[in-house]
Amino acid sequence: RTIRMEVARYRPGQDAEPVFQGYDVPLMSDWAVLDGLNHIKDQLDGSLSYRWSCRMGVCGSCGMTVNGEARLTCGTFLTEYGEGPVRIEPLKGFPVIRDLVVDIDDFLAKLSSVRPWLIREGEDLPLTAEYAQTPEQLEAYKQYSMCINCLLCYSACPVYVLDPDFLGPAAIALAQRYNLDSRDMGDRFDVLSQDDAVWGCTFVGECTRVCPKHVDPAEAIQRYKLTAALRSVLPWSRR
Ligand code: FES
Repeated sequence: RTIRMEVARYRPGQDAEPVFQGYDVPLMSDWAVLDGLNHIKDQLDGSLSYRWSCRMGVCGSCGMTVNGEARLTCGTFLTEYGEGPVRIEPLKGFPVIRDLVVDIDDFLAKLSSVRPWLIREGEDLPLTAEYAQTPEQLEAYKQYSMCINCLLCYSACPVYVLDPDFLGPAAIALAQRYNLDSRDMGDRFDVLSQDDAVWGCTFVGECTRVCPKHVDPAEAIQRYKLTAALRSVLPWSRR
């Protein structure tokens, strides 16, 4: 048995617009969509471009649009699509570099903008100093540390797709990963309280629905809205 894969092909600057190219690949019960793409690349058409690395849902590089949904292709089985066809497109909301490869520079800049590191202030301890943390303190931010930067939440977010200036789900969840860390003394209010940061979110919740790691960016954003609102009346409050 085979299944039809319709794959978006596009070389910006050379092609007028993307076209779909069809390939028949073996329909194996243990094949993910990524296995189908690898079969195309290895056996049928070596010119196909796409990203992947770990093949086990860890590196976050294999995100694509599969039959209209943002998915990790290494964690999505071909058998989910019955007789097919399975239509593969690049993630929505990002410029296409070639075929299924998107430009992630804007995403990386947004991650950096929230100062994603432990900020310590007013102390003069050696770099090797230890900062003990209880299991309860770890639990406060742990879910946000599970993000693999796969871009699925951005691609599924209607706000980001319409307005690329929106800071977006993963960057805000990453900020909360540090804001809620008992060892952090930082302040990310200047970035998060902007109109195109937490206040840009319309709480559709697609980011949380598509996250393959069960992170809840929608909750992170709503929670920070409360923090920001509280801070407007109590300027010294931080979390
Ligand atoms: Fe690494 Fe899919 S290949 S997450």
